[in-house]
Amino acid sequence: MLVLALETSCDETAAAVVRDGVEVLSSVVASQYDLHAEYAGVVPEIASRAHVEAVLPVVREALEQAGCGLGMIDAIAVGNRPGLIGSLLVGVAAAKSLAWSLRKPLIGVDHVAAHVYSGMLERGAEGKSEQELFPALGLVVSGGHTAMYHVASWTQMHRIGTTIDDAMGEAYDKVATMMQLPHPGGPNLDRLASDPSANDKAFDLPVSRLSTTSLDFSFSGLKTSVLYTLRGVPGERGGTAPLALTPATSRDLAASFQRAACKAVTLKLTRAIEQARERDLIYRTLLCGGGVTANSRLRRELLCFEASHKLGVRLPPMRYCMDNAAMIAGLGEQLLRSGQRDGMALQATPTISIPAGPVHAGAR
Ligand code: KG4
Ligand code: ZN
Repeated sequence: MLVLALETSCDETAAAVVRDGVEVLSSVVASQYDLHAEYAGVVPEIASRAHVEAVLPVVREALEQAGCGLGMIDAIAVGNRPGLIGSLLVGVAAAKSLAWSLRKPLIGVDHVAAHVYSGMLERGAEGKSEQELFPALGLVVSGGHTAMYHVASWTQMHRIGTTIDDAMGEAYDKVATMMQLPHPGGPNLDRLASDPSANDKAFDLPVSRLSTTSLDFSFSGLKTSVLYTLRGVPGERGGTAPLALTPATSRDLAASFQRAACKAVTLKLTRAIEQARERDLIYRTLLCGGGVTANSRLRRELLCFEASHKLGVRLPPMRYCMDNAAMIAGLGEQLLRSGQRDGMALQATPTISIPAGPVHAGAR
């Protein structure tokens, strides 16, 4: 099946053509980065206007790169939730128009669930069988979301843990700003931390655990700890001086932050796997996605789960970590195969649709 997908949930206008849910024939992403840079954040009204201008050229480009005409497309998929409502509406309206005029099936896809799927792209036949994949543990670490999911099948996902404050990418971006690193913060902080001379134990930063059994995440304590390290803490006894940001201290602080942030994620994944085992639930795969899965240290540590926990790890290729439409097409095809369809009544919805719990028990 050839699926044409659109993704416009935030500040990226994307279209892709994907065959059989895994073979990416094209994936075009038009970033609006320059338009929002002067505001240091995404301005929703500017984002939706830019989507209107970009959506048709991006679809055209995706078809051209895939070497196919509209007549060859079997179905249309669109990221219709969650996201900025004005941005989502542009993609949904374009997808409805295409599906209606081509008389092809239309499917709305949850953007966060599509990040969980993204590690399946370009892996060929490997892991296509549902029996090999599920039950799976899903992890999404991005600028807007940080959560773990129990994935029973592509149509059945439950959230088992989520951040109680900042998303991991958000913490990376804020710490990068505190350290006066240029935008984009996350990748620049990663680069600095990956310098071979960086000492990741130079600063003793806290790894969030919450309670002894919690599967939730928290990054605000770590972020505040970096702030106090930089600013210093006043006080006659036990106070600390502000940190002079030299190239060496910057590298060490970045590496120490990265170590603590990644440890917080691997710790919760391990907890989720162990808690599941106590209930005789063995996860077969770890499905990872979201912008922060581009992080060099996190990728290395996630891949170690293959050997240490005996499960298959599906990490997206670098180009599918960030927002893209290929992941929407891939999951869209799985939903279509399961018989799901959306009609012209498909709505854009700003909120996530993956429900919370049940936590492991009975969730097989
Ligand atoms: O998935 P995404 O494109 O957008 C959301 O859905 O949020 O993720 C963007 C986030 C940003 O916070 C960015 O700083 C972070 O992913 N990111 C990274 C790296 N590359 C992107 N964070 C840490 N290390 C990286 N290499
Ligand atoms: Zn995303």
